[in-house]
Amino acid sequence: MLHSALINVMVKAARHAGRSLKRDLGEVEHLQVSLKGPANFVTMADKRAEELLYADLTKSRPGYGFIGEEGGTREGADKSHTWIVDPLDGTTNFLHGIPQFAISIGLQREGTIIAGVIYNPANDELYIAERGKGAFLNDQRLRVAGRRQLDECVVGCGLPHIGRGDHDQSRLEMTAIQQRVAGLRRFGAASLDMAFVAAGRLDGYWERNLQPWDMAAGQIMIREAGGVVSGMAGDDDPLTTGHLICGNEFVHKELVKILKPL
Ligand code: IPD
Ligand code: CA
Ligand code: CA
Repeated sequence: MLHSALINVMVKAARHAGRSLKRDLGEVEHLQVSLKGPANFVTMADKRAEELLYADLTKSRPGYGFIGEEGGTREGADKSHTWIVDPLDGTTNFLHGIPQFAISIGLQREGTIIAGVIYNPANDELYIAERGKGAFLNDQRLRVAGRRQLDECVVGCGLPHIGRGDHDQSRLEMTAIQQRVAGLRRFGAASLDMAFVAAGRLDGYWERNLQPWDMAAGQIMIREAGGVVSGMAGDDDPLTTGHLICGNEFVHKELVKILKPL
């Protein structure tokens, strides 16, 4: 399938960094049995992937700004374009050899996300989206799921890690949703949770305290697949608030109704 030059640049960078992560995943699997574990190695793998992405993306689009989880913000001469990149989303999964992690690349133009690529090198699933041109998984057009009965829906969520976020609030939200849906899931990589909503695998997903690089690419993926994305208020911008609810129009509305008052 033919994609724009921009998407080709993003896909090439994602696949390049993906090869590096996949090689490193093999090493991580060996290190599980060592006393020290693979933590330091994974930190290096993460940084290595970000440097590959930075080099590839800025080589193809010199001047664009770059916000990466590991290296922070690097200004470019072109103030209207910024890459928003998570080189390894789902670090805890990667660290444990669980093949649910991804490279996430979003491109922001004048404050709006105009393109996104999410790539899981472990299973070679490549999600792409460009504003006005649709969302695709390995060249198959994506549509969000059509379910309109919450008790038939499978919904994803995040769980704050040890020492982070508000665990009581998280339990409150889970309990409320659990009583209304067919199944609740916690897969551990926000970008892929959003990609799964775009692909109709999950009917909805919510999580608090995300960072722009967790959700920049996922946001456009869902919108281009016909879904709705907002913050907890239902019509606010998750990139500003850090909190996110998404799904098809119906599921999104129902999740907002349950979660907003909590
Ligand atoms: C994390 C993952 C996880 C989510 C966390 C994120 P990281 O990103 O997306 O699913 O629950 O909030 O921080 O640290 O693995 O890049
Ligand atoms: Ca992340
Ligand atoms: Ca990360």
